[in-house]
Amino acid sequence: MTTDPKTASVGQDRVRIDGPLKVTGTAPYAFEQPTENPAYLFPLTSTITRGKIRAIDASAARALSGVLEVLTHENAPKLLAKTDTELYILQSRDVHYFGENIGAVVAETQEIARHAASLVRVEYDTEQEDTRFRPEHPERYNPGKINTGIPADSKQGNVEQGLAEAAVTVDEVYATPYEHHNPMEMHSVIAEWDRERLDGVLGVLGERPHLRIHDASQGVSYERLMLLPLLGLLPQQVEISSPYVGGAFGSKGIPHAQVMLTVLAARLMPGRAVKYMLSRQQMFRSVGHRLTTHQRFRLGAAADGTLTAITHDVQQSSSRLKQFAEQTVNATRHLYAAPHRETSTRMVPLDIGPATFMRAPGEFPGMFAQETAMDELAVKLGLDPIELRLRNKPDTDPESGKPHSSHHLGECLKEGARLFGWEKRQAQPRARQEGEWLCGMGVAAATYPRQMTPPTKASVAFREGKYHVGIAAADLGTGAWTVLTQIAADALKVPEEDVVLHIGHTDLPLAFLAGGSTGTYNWGSAVMVAAVNFRDRYGLTPAEGDEAEGSAFFPDEAKKYMLDAYGAHFAEVKVSTVTGEVHVTRLLGVYDPGRIINPRTANSQFIGGMTMGISAALHEESYLDSRPGYGHVVNSDFAGYHIAANADVPDVQARWIEHPDPMFGPTGAKGIGEIGIVGVPAAIGNAIYNATGKRLRELPFTPAKLV
Ligand code: MOS
Repeated sequence: MTTDPKTASVGQDRVRIDGPLKVTGTAPYAFEQPTENPAYLFPLTSTITRGKIRAIDASAARALSGVLEVLTHENAPKLLAKTDTELYILQSRDVHYFGENIGAVVAETQEIARHAASLVRVEYDTEQEDTRFRPEHPERYNPGKINTGIPADSKQGNVEQGLAEAAVTVDEVYATPYEHHNPMEMHSVIAEWDRERLDGVLGVLGERPHLRIHDASQGVSYERLMLLPLLGLLPQQVEISSPYVGGAFGSKGIPHAQVMLTVLAARLMPGRAVKYMLSRQQMFRSVGHRLTTHQRFRLGAAADGTLTAITHDVQQSSSRLKQFAEQTVNATRHLYAAPHRETSTRMVPLDIGPATFMRAPGEFPGMFAQETAMDELAVKLGLDPIELRLRNKPDTDPESGKPHSSHHLGECLKEGARLFGWEKRQAQPRARQEGEWLCGMGVAAATYPRQMTPPTKASVAFREGKYHVGIAAADLGTGAWTVLTQIAADALKVPEEDVVLHIGHTDLPLAFLAGGSTGTYNWGSAVMVAAVNFRDRYGLTPAEGDEAEGSAFFPDEAKKYMLDAYGAHFAEVKVSTVTGEVHVTRLLGVYDPGRIINPRTANSQFIGGMTMGISAALHEESYLDSRPGYGHVVNSDFAGYHIAANADVPDVQARWIEHPDPMFGPTGAKGIGEIGIVGVPAAIGNAIYNATGKRLRELPFTPAKLV
């Protein structure tokens, strides 16, 4: 970007444009969108794990005053195509997991709907189920490709030879648990079919309907694309809005069953809006989770620390209903050099609900294993863990041989060590004790790839003296609204006040979702191209109504490079010798994020990721009921499922080394949503080892594992 440094907005500290609206309660979230005379939905959920519905008796519910409709597979509108098994609901008697949506009651109030749902009697024929994740499961399988389209397995050289040649080896198993999403705003949706526009030839019931949805969504464009084939509708027949989102890190990325449930219920009462907001407990059922992993990680190194072999063999849970194969092995393929390397991914099919994206899916669990194994290797070699990493920093991408577009991992490690006071660390465990507390420090590297994104567009229109920039992006609370305004202002060469940004609606130009840390470089690129097209066409003095579009631009030359963001996390912990409680007293992240558009919102993203990392390290774990006939999450509320609170994060700091990377696109930004979380649990676990001499290989690090 070429801008006048005196007027440039990019790089400046800006408060969030949507901030005042959100904190004063005036920003309408999906559930609060104004609707006339809405009806309320409460789901019917399965009380078996696997089998078939034999009969449903809803007579008592239907007889209740205020009940408008009971939706089941018996009266559900037919869906046209099974393009997504998670959304293809109520089309048969089949039950796939405990707590699955098998119908809904719609009533005049939430309370009536909920009570009526409790009156519905369902009989089942149960089938043998399997919900217990275990490695070496007899039905585990190779998914072929994993989520980002890369192969599930990789092999270079001969790892057995590499391990045999090594002076020192590590061969350990690491495990990460199921986790569930808990943004402040639970998933919520309003669906309404237009009564006036039900005639015609197309659509679910052989008509030409119009459907309006308000959803808490990370991206309305691709949400709509997912719904259309199932509903048999054209894009112009479905409108989705989601201007404000109360937090999300993956679960609102693609629509889950609750959206379709509400859409189908509303179809039974055209002209009436149907509203549904999940309860906190329902967040643990059918809107996705982070899958659980079992990871064998092997490293071989020469006496000087040079890696000779890396192997990473992952087994991870999967829903039989819908596969979600995380790229848990991905970072292992790129972070360190070694001549002999092998990775594999196997899925364990279970009768549980589908997993979904959760902040750095794949990279997060994978780097916990990799960065703990590297620490174990450093201990065995008697080498400083930072030095070990520096010695194995690759000159080119180890997997493809491509040069890096930019690669500042070494700088992050060295600068972090300086800022954190790494020289004060004692290499020997249990060397620092204050009263009952053992103290220690740990480090972990971080990397997060550039994800390739489907087409994304933006528009600029001049109306009443303002530049209206449109893009169907989403602001999850991350600052997208603010940074896109800054990018637009600079690209148009006008002050921010002259830019009015419009996001979160399917009437706006199609945009990829807020996911994979792509938002700023992908949407920002489209906004810049639209702005440049606008100026090229209309000059600096446009006329009322002038409008231009642009598509996100990815430099062709970039294909020659490996594109990744890097970082380093430093943790200091104290561990109680009495209770086993862990306190993270300090956490520092130093990042290589390309250009920073807005230091304030960037800092917030980094420390948000790091806080989520502390949460995963110390607290988060969903327990499935292992009794026959169950399989639901037993700790499905904040009393049982702990997330980090303020007292858990006394001192979390983020710094960055700013090297804009044009290969990521014209903003020069690399994406910062996920790099903040990836290495944090390993850094904390490594600090715990340094403090106590105990090596923990399973998340979370709860007190019971330390006494
Ligand atoms: Mo994210 S897990 O890319 O919302």
